[in-house]
Amino acid sequence: MARYSLALLAAAALVRAEPYCPVKRDEPTGTGAWAAAYSSAAAAVARLSQQDKINIVTGVGWDKGPCVGNTSPVSSIGYPQLCLQDGPLGIRFGTGITAFTPGVQAASTWDVELIRQRGQYLGAEARGCGIHVLLGPVAGALGKIPHGGRNWEGFGSDPYLAGIAMAETIEGIQSQGVQACAKHYIVNEQEVNRETMSSNVDDRTMHEIYLWPFADAVHSNVASFMCSYNKINGTWACESDSAQNGLLKKELGFRGYILSDWNAQHTTVGSANSGMDMTMPGSDYHGNNRLWGPLLNNAVNAGQVPRQRLDDMVTRILAAWYLLGQDKGYPPINIRANVAGNHKENTRAVARDGTVLLRNEGKILPLASPRRIALVGSAAVVNPRGMNACPDRGCNEGALGMGWGSGSVNYPYFVAPYDALRERAQRDGSQISLHASDSTNGVQGVVQGADVAIVCITANSGEGYITVEGHPGDRNHLDPWHNGNQLVQAVAAANKNTIVVVHSTGPIILETILNTPGVRAVVWAGLPSNENGNALVDVLYGLTNPSGKLVYTIAKRPEDYGVSIVRGNDDFREGIFVDYRWFDQNKIEPRFEFGFGLSYTNYSYSALAITSNVRAGPATGQTIPGGPADLWETVATVTAQVTNTGGVAGAEVAQLYLSFPSSAPSTPPRQLRGFAKLKLQPGQSGTATFNLRKRDLAYWDTGRQQWVVPTGRFVVSVGASSRDIRLTGNIDV
Ligand SMILES: *[C@@H]1O[C@H](CO)[C@@H](O)[C@H](O)[C@H]1NC(C)=O
Ligand SMILES: *[C@@H]1O[C@H](CO)[C@@H](O)[C@H](O)[C@H]1NC(C)=O
Repeated sequence: MARYSLALLAAAALVRAEPYCPVKRDEPTGTGAWAAAYSSAAAAVARLSQQDKINIVTGVGWDKGPCVGNTSPVSSIGYPQLCLQDGPLGIRFGTGITAFTPGVQAASTWDVELIRQRGQYLGAEARGCGIHVLLGPVAGALGKIPHGGRNWEGFGSDPYLAGIAMAETIEGIQSQGVQACAKHYIVNEQEVNRETMSSNVDDRTMHEIYLWPFADAVHSNVASFMCSYNKINGTWACESDSAQNGLLKKELGFRGYILSDWNAQHTTVGSANSGMDMTMPGSDYHGNNRLWGPLLNNAVNAGQVPRQRLDDMVTRILAAWYLLGQDKGYPPINIRANVAGNHKENTRAVARDGTVLLRNEGKILPLASPRRIALVGSAAVVNPRGMNACPDRGCNEGALGMGWGSGSVNYPYFVAPYDALRERAQRDGSQISLHASDSTNGVQGVVQGADVAIVCITANSGEGYITVEGHPGDRNHLDPWHNGNQLVQAVAAANKNTIVVVHSTGPIILETILNTPGVRAVVWAGLPSNENGNALVDVLYGLTNPSGKLVYTIAKRPEDYGVSIVRGNDDFREGIFVDYRWFDQNKIEPRFEFGFGLSYTNYSYSALAITSNVRAGPATGQTIPGGPADLWETVATVTAQVTNTGGVAGAEVAQLYLSFPSSAPSTPPRQLRGFAKLKLQPGQSGTATFNLRKRDLAYWDTGRQQWVVPTGRFVVSVGASSRDIRLTGNIDV
């Protein structure tokens, strides 16, 4: 979605966060719940006029209601004006809200409790604002192109990890009685030409990579989907019978409704008959060219759209509303409600635990009470023009907390690195000197003689309706912005204890920085939202032991990714070899591999144990939300012991990768199929348990049109990253 209205400034405040309390896991809404919702919906539909039905499926028009998307109420059945609001990290345009971290930071924690809590809090805030449909979470873009402008809204470049994060987030949001919206469906991997290009994707790649996390969303009973701007195989996503009716509704058994991305609809009849259920915002951005409303009414009367199709649209929309219990006592719409509560604790925890330590030479970190600290970079301070000076965060000035576009929110406050470091320095009685600029002029005088020099650099991206410093949503290159390489070189030339802090929406090429003598530490701080500085101090001073791991590959050269922003159509020639799958398959050495992250302690792995009752063959179970029921059953369990062998407490993300037997058609050398985050005291051991479902051991057989578990030997690799494998075993099928 696009467009913005005037950003509002809220008072900045430095707020300290308490440690977060893990939340109790709710059971996902049972699949049986749809049956009750459908019977309520059917009873309501029977009482509706055709005009009522048209009103329920048609947005009221751009800028015509309290929310970014609105439909008309139907008082005879107590149906309200439905409020649909961005977005995936909080309530867009809200003033009493939390600016949660972007999805990519949540994924980088690999902590399902934190991810779920983030979802619950998102849901609680949406509910408090009377928002019926929160437009998130995001699994498309999946992030196959590192330059992709909106990759940061989603959960990294691996479909398995993204799928788990989708499920946790959706179940969290919907536990609060708010409808989640899985988006953008599907293969919307770049911003440039997103509204004209076609993503031409083969069937197997579609299933094993791009559809995978959306299957998790359906399995978690997500209420709604948003069809995307691009074409799929030459047909608009919102008009694609094979993507909407075929894959989503038939194959995955999705029972909710599909709404269009804002003006992603192109025809009246085609969209209706191909499975789209609701048009948003209901007009173009000038209030004209309504494709449904009266035109849909005419098309139904003319028999071009069957009446049953209209009833099906309405039934799906009402069923989702009943499923979430929104027919009873839902709060009134008030985007400006004060709903933040203590939710910033989650932002800080995710900002902190999603931070990835990439280099720590001579254990320069954690800092041992330095007496003189030098802090460098425009990203060390809040944007001097104001933390919300740029609408929808559409600039790269000052400290970076999220990318730009409709998936952003206004910050209620912002703690920049300088704010938090200064406070800490004052408490320690240490000195801090600041060079809040990316210019190398005068920087050496500031950093010379300091015990440590901390340099903050950035790379930003966002949605294509805003161009920032020449970057049209997607990034033009994978270098740090504002000549960050030269800034680091200038600092390190004058200070041999240089610590580089990277705030970025996605990978950057770090070779220049890593080859600069004096750069002793690199902290990949990602996108920490407004807890930016607090999370950084937590990590730099060892108040927390860094435990984030990369959710994408950092390459040595941009070319190594094998993909870039496409002019024209994208044939997805890399197929299933996305991100680390590409590097592994083509034997390309990454700089930092997917799943990598250092710690202030060490972990050892031992005692791999595998139990399995998996059988070869296709999944043939009855279709439940998410596909055949047996796909979701656990068929093997792997355990491993992880021991903290160092001197400080920490948390390790143990990862399980599967290599498929050769009887399967060409499959990536290793695919993530499990992870577990263990919090361990020094000397303590814990058990990482990985439950493998049938889908985790299956490939998509294009001939049979089924998920099939191949015969032969699967290799199970358990380790600290996709390349730091510590234990291996087999599953013989
Ligand atoms: C797109 O075309 C490819 C190649 O013909 C086919 O394998 C795939 O199933 C099609 N996908 C959709 C969603 O139509
Ligand atoms: C981890 O172990 C390695 C090898 O023994 C050692 O060089 C390194 O210093 C240890 N790291 C930490 C953080 O203790």
